[in-house]
Amino acid sequence: MEFNPEVLIDADEIAARVKELGERISEDYKGQELTIICVLKGGFIFCSDLVRRLNVPTKIEYIMLSSYGSGKVSSGEPKIELDITGSVEGKNILIVEDIIDTGNTVNFLEILLKQRKARSVKLAAMLFKPGKSRYNIKIDYLGFEIEDKFVIGYGLDYAGRYRELPYVGILNAGH
Ligand code: PRP
Repeated sequence: MEFNPEVLIDADEIAARVKELGERISEDYKGQELTIICVLKGGFIFCSDLVRRLNVPTKIEYIMLSSYGSGKVSSGEPKIELDITGSVEGKNILIVEDIIDTGNTVNFLEILLKQRKARSVKLAAMLFKPGKSRYNIKIDYLGFEIEDKFVIGYGLDYAGRYRELPYVGILNAGH
């Protein structure tokens, strides 16, 4: 089956940006320990690339949230499908996401982590669609702003597929 998505951000551009973000994060957390929370499923590739660009002591936790029920409309509060295993109390947390769309997921997560008494909570996201967020989300470390198109690859899926693509692509009609 032929599959030729339009490349929006290629692997070299991604690698260069991830390197820059890793350097900034390492500088900002110098002398401190960092706990990364990788938001599954989509965040796994960005997270694995980013942590290899850090030179501060780092622990990694995983969380999986589902923001949508069976329908296409957001069901409001995301549900925790898989929770982190460690305590966040008193820790410096960096949430790592593949994309911020409505902001629903990270808004929920930031509130949750503050309730659980994290010392600080910051956010790294590979992609952001400006103008779509319902919340005033501060992205401390952002890869790229993109237009409102359906993107796949580098962790992002369409119906569970294409996460493994090494670039960010646009899914065109017919797939
Ligand atoms: C995607 C993405 C973010 C969220 C962003 O996850 O990984 O977690 O949506 O959207 P929002 O800003 O509107 O909340 P998705 O629910 O598709 O799950 P997945 O990562 O398992 O594919």
